[in-house]
Amino acid sequence: MRDQKLNVLLIGAPGSGKGTQALKLASKHKLKHLSTGDMFRRHIKKKTSLGLLAKSYMDQGQLVPDQVTNDMVKSFVRNTDQGIIFDGFPRNLSQAQAFDQILKTHSRTLDKALYLEISDNQIIERLTGRLYAPQSGQVYHIKSNPPQRPGFCDKSGEALVKRDDDNRELILSRLKVFHKETEPLLAYYRKKNLMSVISAGLFPEEVH
Ligand code: AP5
Repeated sequence: MRDQKLNVLLIGAPGSGKGTQALKLASKHKLKHLSTGDMFRRHIKKKTSLGLLAKSYMDQGQLVPDQVTNDMVKSFVRNTDQGIIFDGFPRNLSQAQAFDQILKTHSRTLDKALYLEISDNQIIERLTGRLYAPQSGQVYHIKSNPPQRPGFCDKSGEALVKRDDDNRELILSRLKVFHKETEPLLAYYRKKNLMSVISAGLFPEEVH
């Protein structure tokens, strides 16, 4: 695949490994990593009005309204010259249509939509063991991908935290939203001949 202005989309259930694979792909192909979830979490940390709004939806495992999400992505794309790996956007058909428009406005094309396929059972195991570095965005797992020094990020040295939405009840709500709202995107990108399915239940290096 050509690297210049490569635009790739990762679709997958919560915990399918989108963040893990996005970081690997971004580093290998020199892409900018756009994670709408990370962007919302940064706003929440800074207590911005967008953060407060996003939190009220994220705390329920629901999607943040399309308009604010689309506007945030629009601004990221407008200010980025490199190729982009889109992690967690679009997440429903309305966002996918807005995404088409954003790409067109900025003379970009989508090269590939990668679906990280995994069972719901594996997801629970992954998310309940996840540790996260808020500044560097690095993701760890207490068993499958532990940091070298327990509790601290290998890259930035910062303390690792558990995400607020990684509790069983919210994981189940997020999965429900994924099946209802995001799964229809598979047909959308299949129709555009852009879809590849990846077995995401393997070890991270194998998935990569
Ligand atoms: P977001 O932050 O995007 O969360 P998510 O989609 O629920 O996905 P996760 O980040 O939980 O998982 P992941 O697939 O990145 O997996 P990871 O690599 O971390 O969104 C959070 C919320 O923000 C949403 O619920 C919504 O409210 C809002 N939001 C975000 N985008 C939105 C949008 N577009 N529109 C509206 N609202 C939006 O891996 C998980 C764990 O598994 C880690 O511990 C990792 O180390 C481990 N792991 C990864 N790969 C493997 C492997 N191959 N084998 C073993 N372990 C692995």
